[in-house]
Amino acid sequence: MDEEAKSETREDGGAADRFGPFGILLHWTVALLVLFQLGSALAMEGMERELRGTVMGLHKAAGLTVVALTIARILWRRSTTLPDWPESVGAARRRLLHRVELAIYALLLVVPLAGWGTSMAAGHATSWFGLFTIPAFLPESETLAEVLGEVHEIGAFGLMAVVGLHAGLVVWEASTTSPGFLRRMLPPGVG
Ligand code: HEM
Repeated sequence: MDEEAKSETREDGGAADRFGPFGILLHWTVALLVLFQLGSALAMEGMERELRGTVMGLHKAAGLTVVALTIARILWRRSTTLPDWPESVGAARRRLLHRVELAIYALLLVVPLAGWGTSMAAGHATSWFGLFTIPAFLPESETLAEVLGEVHEIGAFGLMAVVGLHAGLVVWEASTTSPGFLRRMLPPGVG
């Protein structure tokens, strides 16, 4: 995923200054799912047992979806050409934006996989919205569940931080150097 790839002609149906439709759809679907994951994790704390179980089921299924969509997104990203950077975004800021995005991709895999691992180490199979069930394939272990639980929780805070940084950098770029920057990730007609 190097930056040079972003300076060639596009092949995924988007304009030279905009991500393609599939990339945009994946970006906002994953963003909404991540918001749901953070919201449901916080909300679960105060819930009574039965409702908590239902929300936990949704949290796990949505987490598996994030893993699948992130893998799809990485494969898509490697097989397509990305939009050119605007001239107005200098080399150091391109590098920063790019590194923050790589950190997001890494955490989008680590956080849900650690959550899934926690659940398996506690002996639970995982249902995907009641449509199919993936049996636990990790050994049942209290220690493993604790370690992965910590990774899941700390990673989730890290993800919040890098997503906040990402949104801040993008908005800063759009409001100072490059007015059209946000449009890169908006469907034509919206921005
Ligand atoms: C959970 C929320 C979010 C996640 C996980 C996320 C993730 C990402 C990732 C990984 C990329 C890199 C795309 C690539 O080159 O492969 C990206 C690009 C982008 N995102 Fe987000 N994003 C989120 C929220 C937002 C928000 C709130 C905004 C607007 C304020 C935004 C605007 C953009 C823009 C304009 C780009 C294109 C920048 C570039 O060309 O590299 N994102 N996002």
